[in-house]
Parts: sequence; C-alpha cells; structure tokens
Amino acid sequence: MLEEVRECSSQLDFCRQVAELIVAAGRDALEKRGRFTLVLTGGGTVQALYHHLAASDSRSAIKKILAETYFFLGDERFVPVGHPDNNGAMAWNLLLEPAGVAGSRFFRIRTDLGSAAAGATDYEKTLRGFFANKPDEVMPLPEFDLVLLGLGSDGHVASLFPGTDALFESERWVTTSFPPELAPAVARITMTMPLLNQAGEVIMLVSGSGKKATVRQILTEPERAAKLYPAALVRPGRRKVWLLVDD
Ligand code: 6PG
Repeated sequence: MLEEVRECSSQLDFCRQVAELIVAAGRDALEKRGRFTLVLTGGGTVQALYHHLAASDSRSAIKKILAETYFFLGDERFVPVGHPDNNGAMAWNLLLEPAGVAGSRFFRIRTDLGSAAAGATDYEKTLRGFFANKPDEVMPLPEFDLVLLGLGSDGHVASLFPGTDALFESERWVTTSFPPELAPAVARITMTMPLLNQAGEVIMLVSGSGKKATVRQILTEPERAAKLYPAALVRPGRRKVWLLVDD
C-alpha cells in the first residue's frame, strides 16, 4: 500500500485535489473494470467537497465521471431520511441531486426498517446483490474502487469507533455501532474495516489542526496508533491518500 500525505493550501485546493483523485480513479476503473464504485462519507468536512463537485461545469471531467459512478455510503446514522443528521440525504442534497446523478446509481443505507441491525442486514444484502454475478452467490469481499473517509476527533472512520465491537468485526460486510462519546448519539450502520480495506484506494479527508496531530501520530508511530485510532487500521489494497486542510 502506497501512503501519501498532501497539505492543502486552502479549502479550494483541498476540493480540487480530491476532484482530481476521483477523476483519476474513475477513469482507471472504467477502463479496467467497466464501472466505477465510490463510497461516500458523512460528516462536516466532506460537505464543502460535495458543494464544489456539484458546482463543477457540466462538461467538466468530474461531472462526466460522476455520471458514470455507482455511489455507496460508508456509514449512516439511524435517523429518518428527512433528519438533518442523515448522511444519505446530505450526500443526495449537496452532491448527487444537484450533479444530476440518477437515483438508481445511489445505494443508500435504509433507516426505515425498524432497527439499525435490520438496516445493516439489508445493506449487506444490497451490496451482495450489486457485486454478485448470480443470485445467492457465495462471494468474497468486494473491492470498491475508491472510498472517501473523514477522520473523527477520536480517530474513528465511518462509524467504526475506538474500542468497539464493530471495529473488530471480521466476518460481516456491514454492522452496527454506537458512538461511545461523539455526537450525534444515535445508533449507526457502518461498513466494516475488512470491507473498507478491500478497496483499491482510500482518500482520508482531514480538516483542522487537532486532527493533523492525530494524522502525524498515525504516520510516525503506526503500531502504537493502531491501538488507539481506527483510522490507523485503514490499509486499502493500493493507495491511501491523506488530504489535510486547516479549518
Ligand atoms: C459520520 C461520518 C464520520 C465523519 C467523521 C469526521 O457519519 O459522521 O461518516 O466518520 O466522517 O466523524 O467528521 P467531520 O468531517 O465532521 O469532522
């Protein structure tokens, strides 16, 4: 795994660099595999990126790639789709809908099935159905082409929080979790670390000086950091790119 750290000079630089990375990964995936699968993140940092991508010219390289992308979510809060904390709604409203992406290309995590556990089971079934070549195929972990992840102040990624069972789930593709201390204090549905790590490439989106210190610790003391921060356990197949920007 190649690991790269980029200090962005501004939020615009941050957004432009992520857009370039998405275009490069998309072109490579479309050329080699005939489709591009992209996992989106929730949270606050990524929202500036979604605005930027949606505002790109319709003839831009990023818009052309987005039109050919299949979108997934790394995690979801167990709140109704109309709730302001719903990641799927945020991604749809800020990026996908304004970018003209067809709804059929966006695989949301359902939170209307009565429990987070039911939502996790349903999403895993959705993913198996998308990647399987035939119904009920017994299949290995699928490889998403690109995963976007934010970094929590406690070092979590998706909804894999430090010291939780979800973080150490080794069989399931999707599971449930509950944040030990961070808001919003609601049940979560999240992709598991093995599924995230099966991806070809991960882009870590990090804003704020406090998180930069965490990144520095992960890069300089990986073994120690792996015991503290889930982000240190993210090791995709090909490349992990850290994009850092001040608030
Ligand atoms: C979520 C996200 C979560 C987020 C980090 C960073 O559901 O909240 O998936 O993993 O990316 O908490 O969030 P900020 O970018 O808002 O700091």
